[in-house]
Amino acid sequence: MSDWCDCFNFGISITKQASEQHKDVRVKSSSADLVTETDERVENLLISAIRNRYPLHRFIGEESVAAGEHLELTDTPTWIIDPIDGTVNFVHRFPFVAISIAFTVNKQTEFGIVYSCVEDKLFCAQRGGGAFLNGEPLHVSGQEDISRCLVVTEIGAERDDLALSIMTSNIFRLLTLPVHGVRALGTAAVDMCQVATGGADVYYHIGMHCWDIAASAIIVQEAGGVVMDTDGSQFDMMSRRVIAASSLVVAGRVADMIQAFPCRRDDEQPV
Ligand code: IPD
Ligand code: CA
Repeated sequence: MSDWCDCFNFGISITKQASEQHKDVRVKSSSADLVTETDERVENLLISAIRNRYPLHRFIGEESVAAGEHLELTDTPTWIIDPIDGTVNFVHRFPFVAISIAFTVNKQTEFGIVYSCVEDKLFCAQRGGGAFLNGEPLHVSGQEDISRCLVVTEIGAERDDLALSIMTSNIFRLLTLPVHGVRALGTAAVDMCQVATGGADVYYHIGMHCWDIAASAIIVQEAGGVVMDTDGSQFDMMSRRVIAASSLVVAGRVADMIQAFPCRRDDEQPV
């Protein structure tokens, strides 16, 4: 198991503390992309508490990047933070919102924490130590038959014609396979953790960012699941494409069935 237990325990306690906040809504880039004063406040609270304790660590935070901070994953210990995953849900009081924190060293994820605040569900995993929900071990379903799968996905914040047509035709193709059903909770982090619980068999998404899925990726892997790129290649948290599945067979089947629209990588330098 990882040597970063002190950071892990601190991450869990600061996540719980940060989850008590109010709302004040503003539009970020489109009506589907909202930012609240709470997103910024939670991120600032988390970063300042962590920086105070670990002054040499680096951060990749959703709101800091939105405010123009350069996004680069280096070998230095790095906290990847989504202060509120599911901001649209938060604004509508739809009860799935999460704080998501991943911690990387040498670009490898050491642990992930996803706290689904309204449900009071704390998902977490340390590399090599298994995955847990409120202290109980998590295991994926192990399902290998795509026609028996419950699929979770999202139509994300990308709403141009190409993105919409690809995302809706992906859902169409999976439904006509058929699969058992398609669900969307409105937070990538919590969506993906459903695979770790065995409640869903596969999750895929295109267009999200590293802070949406970095923590839940290690939670799915430590629950025995598989995480890969939508083109079937190795998972890359900066690529903005992900499949998380109960088995390699199901991940591969979904990779064969779906298409991705082009997205700028999270770590691409601005031109
Ligand atoms: C979004 C949510 C949503 C997903 C989007 C994400 P935000 O994050 O995770 O479920 O479809 O791609 O950007 O904006 O609520 O932090
Ligand atoms: Ca998010």
